[in-house]
Amino acid sequence: MTKLTKKPRHAYAPDPKVTFEGDTVNTARYDDVYNIHRIGKVTDLVETGKQTYTAISDGKANLHLQFWSDDVVRIRITLGKPGRDFSYGMDPAAQPTSIKVTRKEGKKAYGLSTGTIRLEINKADGRLKITDKATQSVIQEYTEPFYARTTVMKGLEQVRIQVATDKKEGFFGMGDKAWDTDLQGTEWSNYNEDAFAYHRGRKTNYRTIPFYYGLRDGKAYGVFLDNTYRSHFDFNSTSDDLCTVWADGGEMNYYFIYGPQLDDVAARYHHLTGVPELPPLWAMGFHQCRWSYYPESRVRELAGQFRSKRIPCDAIYLDIDYMDEYRCFTWDKKHFPDPKGMISDLKKDGFHTVVMIDPGIRVDENYPVYQQMIEHDYDCKRPNGNSMVGPVWPPECVWPDYTNPAVREWWGPLYRELYNEQGVSGFWNDMNEPAMFKVNRLTFPDDIRHDMDGQPTDHKEAHNIYGLNMTRASYDGLKKLQPAKRPFLLGRASYSGGQRYAALWTGDNIASWEHLQIANRQCIRMAISGFSMVGTDIGGFVDDPTPEMLTRWLQLAVFHPLMRIHSMGNNADGAAGVEAEAVKKAEAEDRKDQEPWAHGKEHTKRNRRAIEMRYQLLPYLYSSFKKHLETGVPVLRNLFFYDQEDPQCRKFGDQFLYGDDLLVCPVLKEGMKSMAIYLPQGEWYDFWSGEHHTGTQKMKVKVKADRMPIFVKAGTVLPTVDVVQSTQEMHELSSLELSVFAAESGTSTFYWDAGEGYGHDAGQFTERTYEVTRKKGKIALRQTVRGSYNASFQVAEVRFLGLTAPPSSIVVDGRQITTGIYYGKKAVVVNVPFNFGEILIN
Ligand code: NOJ
Repeated sequence: MTKLTKKPRHAYAPDPKVTFEGDTVNTARYDDVYNIHRIGKVTDLVETGKQTYTAISDGKANLHLQFWSDDVVRIRITLGKPGRDFSYGMDPAAQPTSIKVTRKEGKKAYGLSTGTIRLEINKADGRLKITDKATQSVIQEYTEPFYARTTVMKGLEQVRIQVATDKKEGFFGMGDKAWDTDLQGTEWSNYNEDAFAYHRGRKTNYRTIPFYYGLRDGKAYGVFLDNTYRSHFDFNSTSDDLCTVWADGGEMNYYFIYGPQLDDVAARYHHLTGVPELPPLWAMGFHQCRWSYYPESRVRELAGQFRSKRIPCDAIYLDIDYMDEYRCFTWDKKHFPDPKGMISDLKKDGFHTVVMIDPGIRVDENYPVYQQMIEHDYDCKRPNGNSMVGPVWPPECVWPDYTNPAVREWWGPLYRELYNEQGVSGFWNDMNEPAMFKVNRLTFPDDIRHDMDGQPTDHKEAHNIYGLNMTRASYDGLKKLQPAKRPFLLGRASYSGGQRYAALWTGDNIASWEHLQIANRQCIRMAISGFSMVGTDIGGFVDDPTPEMLTRWLQLAVFHPLMRIHSMGNNADGAAGVEAEAVKKAEAEDRKDQEPWAHGKEHTKRNRRAIEMRYQLLPYLYSSFKKHLETGVPVLRNLFFYDQEDPQCRKFGDQFLYGDDLLVCPVLKEGMKSMAIYLPQGEWYDFWSGEHHTGTQKMKVKVKADRMPIFVKAGTVLPTVDVVQSTQEMHELSSLELSVFAAESGTSTFYWDAGEGYGHDAGQFTERTYEVTRKKGKIALRQTVRGSYNASFQVAEVRFLGLTAPPSSIVVDGRQITTGIYYGKKAVVVNVPFNFGEILIN
């Protein structure tokens, strides 16, 4: 036993001086005493399962290695025998692939090799080293043996590994950390928190994504620590050459994912933790929210304003005030006397209604949801069996224990009335960290009990997956209630893998230029961390944006898969928990509007333009999302995912790719007249002017008030449509525009389906592959079609850019055409049947 002395600066700082090792006779007493556990000396490495090996060692910690593929190995270090093998983060459908693993024994180490990596286990202390087999370069090497600490009073309180790194290594990922793109030199923790008005650099935020990418000597790898306890990542912050990963309990259980390309790591991480289903098309339209729109007349007025001002919109959100005194699954009948009628009228006008559902259930003997919870013991309990009662919006709440399968089963059908009878289209699960008001801790005490799917535990282990399980219960419930509909669920707290159930937004941000930059980085970071269906509160939740800021935010959010304006209105004390009447009074007096028309004519025009562009680009955005689901490559990616060898790509950290073909250079500062941008290798076209540029160059570009610089990769065929007021109108369009950004060669795909339901699983989709070639000034475009969906498009309006001279002939499917051709400044446009096979521009 070792006495606990001074609190270390970092939880993983060197152990206090060992004073009582093995000494139980000494009569001195301390607050607590601890033990350190290691793997110890390894005497054998035995095969214990398919592609699975266990180290035989003399320490208390046991090392197990399981190969998932040539590039992915699971490293599991348990104290004693491994316990239940269980994960909320892993996709239940993910399975290891069969590969060949070669075991070798050397003098100092055991070795295991796959086709691409070699893993060495040091015989002296079980330290690991992973190298790229082809180049022999070291990707990950432990600098200390695995470490676990138990104390008499607390039990297991830390599991830790430490690996070598240097100042040049890039660290990315980790979910919603509000920081620069590269996490080099920083330390972070994961513990889901109600991070109201979070600031740049806040250590813990709304969600736990314990997954990072390392980029070392041009080679990328990833580490996914599947441990739900509070976890910590130090990327060189304490020492220049150490990366330390530790958790406050549980097993050291992580997946080492080799690349060497960043895209490969992303795809493999998605393979492990899953991808969502294709969202309904309307969910990718523009959404308007505020805390809160009510009464019904205000909601109708808002919808009317969108249509009369010709600003496209697909969804209106109702925040907590639609409920009857914050009772989930009820309506405030005074303000919403006829929800069904209102929702149906909105739908006729192309609006979907999304409403909030919180996990905090009001303590009220007359409220059926509360009654059922108490009757069946579905609520989270204190160790003595009493209910965990605390304040959120209602002064006293109880919380469902979503880690109990029976509770999840019960929760889903609660949506029936809203979803099946009243016509609500989507749901918003908020406050599910779980957030609690009035206490500094912001959440439950550590000793609250959870079922954890049949292996009861405390809140320390269950905290970070509470939100994921709420969204899982909601999502599964919605699917059962309307199996023919794609659920749309927006969540706040989550854990790795939560992307299978809900879209996320980044939470209660602030209307500031700094936050606009944070919004950009957080969305990209969330996307590369598994959550491509992501967005921010456009314009900022706290405080009011300047007109220019709101416009720039909207322009950026055109490229966020979830595009939603949200603000707290004047619920200034919201985070501290205000009484309903006070909120309502404040709202009535002063409405601090954040609708796209809030700032006068000029800005309304620009904001409308941004939202229109979103709708015009939807065929491309939807196709890119579909591709993400197939490949696991995120929808948003940092520029250096395009070329990880080019150091300039890392310098231009705010630029990003949307899908494979669009390079976006967001305008994130006030009053910008020009900005420096970087075009990576290849050829690019200016999206706006059609001008051609060669890559690997820095450029200074002019910044206009109504647009951001955007570039298109040469060889792209970009599908767009005319402006519509909602996605409902999109399925009536007869013409699809295809912009052909000519190059020597290029391939693009356009995916389209009913935008709702699962017909696509039975072939009801159309997937069009466009191949472009250019030889000696002649351009050829070929289309191949897969799937049987009968889209409304009849005509393809094909715009060819990058012509060096006016064409001498245009041949469509073997026939020269002379009509339906339009000549623009740098382009030729031809109208052809949607199902054309080949167009030749000579
Ligand atoms: C906190 C959420 O983050 C915010 O978006 C919402 O408006 C408030 N809760 C009120 O429901």
